[in-house]
Amino acid sequence: MVAVRRRCLYPPGMAETIDGEPTRGQGIDERIGTGLDFNEATARALERMYQAPEVALQRAIVLHSMALRAGEVVLDVGPGPGFLATNMAAIVGASGVVSGIDQSEPMVALARARCQDQDWVDIQVGEATDLPYQSGIFDAAVSTQVYEYVEDVEVALTELFRVLRPGGRAFIVDTDWSSTVWNNSDPVRMQRVLEAWDQHLVDPHLPATLTPKLKQAGFQVVRRDVHPMFNPEYSPDSYSAGILEGIRTFVLGRNGITQDEADAWASDLRDLGEAGEYFFSVNRYLFQAVKPGLPSQG
Ligand SMILES: C[S@@+](CC[C@H](N)C(=O)[O-])C[C@H]1O[C@@H](n2cnc3c(N)ncnc32)[C@H](O)[C@@H]1O
Repeated sequence: MVAVRRRCLYPPGMAETIDGEPTRGQGIDERIGTGLDFNEATARALERMYQAPEVALQRAIVLHSMALRAGEVVLDVGPGPGFLATNMAAIVGASGVVSGIDQSEPMVALARARCQDQDWVDIQVGEATDLPYQSGIFDAAVSTQVYEYVEDVEVALTELFRVLRPGGRAFIVDTDWSSTVWNNSDPVRMQRVLEAWDQHLVDPHLPATLTPKLKQAGFQVVRRDVHPMFNPEYSPDSYSAGILEGIRTFVLGRNGITQDEADAWASDLRDLGEAGEYFFSVNRYLFQAVKPGLPSQG
């Protein structure tokens, strides 16, 4: 029940497949009536997509904002493939601890593999709404692109508050999908597709209401910033190229969208890319909050 120092486990054979391309139709869960399932194929697709330079830049901005110090004890709620966890571990060093809790076993496997040489990283399977840690043990906590998926975000934020020490810092990033700008040839179809895509999240507009939710949990909100995922050109390695394929498969059968329609939507965007007319942007919001009590700079 505490942030422990435990060596990450590395599943045999994972190294060969860790950067593998998702097969067509496998990238994102296609089941109707549920949100995203972070299964093995989704985990790999997301791992690849999150290596895009614009996502790496967002991680660097979050890391800079966190101003971590050697020896600090840090929590990552929903570390996914573990890019931020390994970056944080490099800063806090062996005298610190990075704990991660993620409900997806495939994601936990990827994160553990990524942190395999950092003994002070501990990634466990678990729930954001029921953190398996003692109260008041973390100096800082981060959660990027997670709370928008959580059914009871108020409980999750209360849990986050509980496990931070007085003066502890929280850093939360979420997307508001209504900020999407995506040049296309059929705005009606685009709207139908994006409405269907909203179903992959519990709350696709969480940032707009996150401030009162943080305050309700007891936090003092100290800073808010916006960081776009911005692709003014098409590149197969970009964030939007990855999410494009994820959306194409996820929206099938939702909102009455057929295979032909989903394929035509995706082809249109790629064609615009080839014609030099591509343009994509969506906003992610970074919230910084503090648990009142002792000064955060100890
Ligand atoms: C979009 S990924 C983001 C991963 C990582 N934070 C990043 O930004 O690279 C969302 C992650 O949150 C995890 N997740 C979603 N809901 C969760 C919950 N209720 N409890 C714990 N983890 C959750 C998923 O399994 C997935 O790994």
